[in-house]
Amino acid sequence: MKAIGILTSGGDAPGMNAAIRAVVRTAIYYGYKVYGIEKGYKGLLNEEFVEMDLSSVGDIIQRGGTILKSSRSDEFRTEEGRAKAVKILEKIGIESLVVIGGDGTFNGAKKLCELGVSTIGIPGTIDNDLAYTDYTIGFDTAMNTIIDAISKIRDTSSSHDRVNIVEVMGRHCGDLALYAGLAGGAESIVVPEIDIKTEEIVKRLKTTQKRGKKHSIIVLAEGATSIENGAIGLKAALTDEDKADVRITVLGHVQRGGAPSAFDRILASKLGNKAVELLIEGKSGRVVGIKNNEIIDMDIDEALAVEKKFDEESYEMAKVLSI
Ligand code: F6P
Repeated sequence: MKAIGILTSGGDAPGMNAAIRAVVRTAIYYGYKVYGIEKGYKGLLNEEFVEMDLSSVGDIIQRGGTILKSSRSDEFRTEEGRAKAVKILEKIGIESLVVIGGDGTFNGAKKLCELGVSTIGIPGTIDNDLAYTDYTIGFDTAMNTIIDAISKIRDTSSSHDRVNIVEVMGRHCGDLALYAGLAGGAESIVVPEIDIKTEEIVKRLKTTQKRGKKHSIIVLAEGATSIENGAIGLKAALTDEDKADVRITVLGHVQRGGAPSAFDRILASKLGNKAVELLIEGKSGRVVGIKNNEIIDMDIDEALAVEKKFDEESYEMAKVLSI
């Protein structure tokens, strides 16, 4: 019987479990044996395999995190490490591998594919930083987590006439900050892709204060570099230039957990199912995604080469809506 391996790697994301469930159930439905590989590529090198049956993925569609655990592996980044991984897969009898993660995970899959292992990648990261797909698994849930936090912070911000800076994840990609800021009615949004200075933020604060609004929310992506010293630098500047009473909330890993949204569960189920179908069709070195509401697949190299375009139109619109 042919065997498929499945692993999750890099930062976890809500919905990864729903994707694991879809892969395991689809593969078993078509008569395949499935091995879960724990702790990503690191677990592969340590031979941490667990055979998965239908009930091993029962009751997980609603759970955040990943039952297979995740990690980042330095050894796998070396040629020797990857050669060792191929030998281990051969020894266990795994011919094909489904990997769930972000660009680092896909790069690993690409290298394994070059060494003869059939691989399919499923995009799982809260950052939404893979340009070939409109959405990555976990983004929608993380965005909703942020919106929920902003709503709560807004209550206290209003009671105390304060400026609240909410720092969200996103090292290179401002999607979480942009869309959560837009949906949360943030007065200013600071992202890595746009060079916004403190003067502009102060100007915006003053404009809203003039019409009697004394509180405001600034959503700042952790990777934004246009403001020196991030949230702390911005707080200092606003306190100094606007005499504002400023508080900072760093949402951190709260954004990475929690029950996946319906959108993420459905996306993960469709992508997991599609990944196995591709392997059955004999395809390899591909990734799955969603484009214009259609499930698609694409060559890994091509997918990784697609350049992420920041949605400036929505960014400008958010500015208009928050005057
Ligand atoms: O890539 C996902 C992500 O959550 C980023 O947004 C964040 O910068 C990073 O992972 C945090 O990584 P770690 O969990 O290793 O601290």
